[in-house]
Amino acid sequence: MSDNFERQKGLRRLWMASAWLFVAGAVAGVCFRWGMVASFPDGWDAGNIRHGHSHLMLMGWATPALMALMGARWPAQGGRNSERAVCLVGWIAWGLALASFPAFLLYGYQSVAIGSAELPIAAILSGLAILAWYGFAVVYFRANRGVERTAAMRLWDLAVAALVISSIGAWAVAGLMIADVDSVLWEAATVHFFVDLFGGGWLVLGLVGVLRSHVELEDSTNERIGRILVGGAVALVFLVGLPREYTPTVWPLLGSAAAGFVAAGLALIAQRIWAEQGRWSRRVLVFLAIKVVMLAAVAIPPLAEWGLGAGLRLFYLHIALVGFVTLGLVAMAARQWGEQTVGSLQAWLAAVVVLLATMLPLTGLWPRELAGQWVHQVALVGSAFAVLATGAACMVGSWGSEEG
Ligand code: HEM
Repeated sequence: MSDNFERQKGLRRLWMASAWLFVAGAVAGVCFRWGMVASFPDGWDAGNIRHGHSHLMLMGWATPALMALMGARWPAQGGRNSERAVCLVGWIAWGLALASFPAFLLYGYQSVAIGSAELPIAAILSGLAILAWYGFAVVYFRANRGVERTAAMRLWDLAVAALVISSIGAWAVAGLMIADVDSVLWEAATVHFFVDLFGGGWLVLGLVGVLRSHVELEDSTNERIGRILVGGAVALVFLVGLPREYTPTVWPLLGSAAAGFVAAGLALIAQRIWAEQGRWSRRVLVFLAIKVVMLAAVAIPPLAEWGLGAGLRLFYLHIALVGFVTLGLVAMAARQWGEQTVGSLQAWLAAVVVLLATMLPLTGLWPRELAGQWVHQVALVGSAFAVLATGAACMVGSWGSEEG
């Protein structure tokens, strides 16, 4: 059994609780797919289910799980052990994400009458969760203040900066909805800024840092160049996804250029990690490679335009967030605390592969003449399989961890 299994019990439990929220978020994904096949029952709203799903996945699964893994890894990089503080902010973030889930499902961003007041309850709970992220940023920088920066830590510095900066987009999303501003451009700009920087900056770079923390090699010039490219460009990638009819022509071009820089930067950083990693980490890096190839394609403006029209944005998001981030968080937890923590790595891999494969026919990559209503049925089956496989893995993981 891994030495860290007992020593880092608190962080391991936080990770496990977050994994259960993955399963809950996936159930919301199944409900959305069900609605696409059989129409939504009365009282179900597709938009609210999508909000509930995406918030729970980003804020309740990936964020506390990454916090737990970073907190488990930074002592080995020279940082001060801050397990209790990481657990405190991690559990607060987890609890608020969980509490906002039913609120999003029922009401979305709408205000709800509570006593004599009308309150947008889901937005308020998400706002409070953002304060917990700031708490994590404080814990991270205090624990690692004055510490000589390793390659992993420099990636984490960028990731935590992206977490804080992306939150401006989240505040703006909630602000626009509360103020009832009706602007397609601002709505798209704030949502894309938040989701793209939170996913591509905080989650992806944070996880790449965790992978890098297992590599003994010294920091290299290629990696430094890679970090400069990613750090300088990642906040601008969102420009490429904005609706063309409302944006000046130069914005998507800037976004395409930024995507190219980020793709090149990630490739330089990943190549160093690939050289030193085992089988599971390489499987995770394959998904990073697919993300990098898609980003590189986005750097070519006509391809970016085609991809957006072909509905590839959602597929790209899931390649990054399910393929790389989710599988990576699971593989790194298994490496840190032993495979019994995650139940079964194979089950998680199967869930990820089936989910992504069954999303493919929904995109323009699939020949239109071969598509039909069945593509939604297949996507429903794929997401249901993911729920069953990861739910079973979580059950085995929770039981195995407590037995262990
Ligand atoms: C079993 C796993 C998953 C399933 C079944 C699933 C399913 C879905 C579905 C059905 C949608 C709405 C699609 C649409 O609007 O047409 C969606 C959107 C989304 N999902 Fe997932 N997903 C899964 C995992 C994840 C994970 C792990 C994350 C993040 C860590 C994530 C983040 C998102 C985001 C950000 C959106 C887009 C929201 C938007 O643009 O409004 N998903 N997903």
